[in-house]
Amino acid sequence: MLLPNQSVNSNGHLVVGGCDTVALAREYDTPLYVLDEQMVRHNCQQYRQAFAQRLPRSEIAYASKALMTKALCRIMQQEQMALDVASEGELYTALQAGFPAARIKLHGNYKKPALLQMAIENGVGRIVADSLPELALISEVAGELGKQGHILIRITPGIKADTHERIRAGQEDSKFGLGLAGGAAMTATRLALELPNIELHGFHCHIGSQLLHTNGFVRTAAVVMDFISQAGAETGYVAEQFDIGGGLGIRYQEDDVPPTIDHLAEEVCTALKAAADQHNVPLPELILEPGRSIVGEAGVTLYTIGVVKEIPGVRTYVSVDGGLSDNPRPLLYDAEYEAMIANRANQPPDRIVRVAGAHCETDTLFPESNLADPQPGDILAVQSTGAYTYAMASNYNRFTKPAMVLVNDGNAELIVTREGLEDLVRHDVIPQRLI
Ligand SMILES: Cc1ncc(COP(=O)(O)O)c(C=O)c1O
Repeated sequence: MLLPNQSVNSNGHLVVGGCDTVALAREYDTPLYVLDEQMVRHNCQQYRQAFAQRLPRSEIAYASKALMTKALCRIMQQEQMALDVASEGELYTALQAGFPAARIKLHGNYKKPALLQMAIENGVGRIVADSLPELALISEVAGELGKQGHILIRITPGIKADTHERIRAGQEDSKFGLGLAGGAAMTATRLALELPNIELHGFHCHIGSQLLHTNGFVRTAAVVMDFISQAGAETGYVAEQFDIGGGLGIRYQEDDVPPTIDHLAEEVCTALKAAADQHNVPLPELILEPGRSIVGEAGVTLYTIGVVKEIPGVRTYVSVDGGLSDNPRPLLYDAEYEAMIANRANQPPDRIVRVAGAHCETDTLFPESNLADPQPGDILAVQSTGAYTYAMASNYNRFTKPAMVLVNDGNAELIVTREGLEDLVRHDVIPQRLI
């Protein structure tokens, strides 16, 4: 499977963003994350245009949990995106990159007082309040700082998204948000309107990730607009913003057919306008917070094949020099990917093999991958690895985290350097008595 902006050159090598992946592997070593800048920018532009042309007011906030680096923050800023963060570390990275705090939104079901303080002190644009105690805490922290906490309330719409259960977040039985059914969302609305030092700007919800249909978004739009109308009737509050979350799926495998960004925009905007008309409420500003669909297909991971082990009558194991520590998604979500031999990208695949990682664990990357005669020394390229790979990487087995290069028009630039062995022991302390 070749994705847009990819090709095969006269040496039969896979080319991404104009760069020969085999040359990248040689220069930067493997495992290596490769990120295609033009594809990232194109996706941002698609989102912004598709929604802006259908709605008078909309905002696209990149969900940085999918992939967060300082260089990416710069790209998001240049593309006039807003930014979602969900932790102290993500917020810190964004601020370090000079991202304007007013265009940052802070998420999380458990934000410690220090995180709220950091957000309010720095002038973060929106805090997405996730519980009743958190509303009181935001009010308290803002009061102590002599500032306002600008918030959205996260609603749990009671919608079970059609995706892997570990990336569902909109069903009633969820740690996220305030439910509609039991009245928690309405209680939170009243509380936010009463509490000092809080300015309520509207509502948020996110039903899940890797959604390959638009119906979940359409139902969410209808349910939340219902609530907005009801809250208006009960409290007189007019919602200024409605954040419908992220979640649009991407192509991991040849037969995945995610909705286009344009189709998503058409469906969501139509549903939103219809609901606003039906309830006779003003159309709120629509916010989206896509992560995976901005960076997912823009990423390729390169590995070096080390061992090809045939177990007669059973299967062939192909071991690569990474795995669980640079991409935990196969083990977490049974995620599947397409891979190819990057140095023989023209050769038709002819062998079903199991691709295994190099960790002391059964870290199967791909249970059944169709590859072109994989051999030790070959470079394996794994498609659509831009989202939730580096972001979820670990140092399991004391593997060092790989480098990441940004490719654009034949140029490659490091945006994350490879960890060294010294990084692994940087925080280790030997107490004096053990020396
Ligand atoms: C609150 C919230 N917003 C946005 C996202 C981004 O979702 P995705 O990467 O599927 O677009 C997530 C991810 O799970 C999320 O939890």
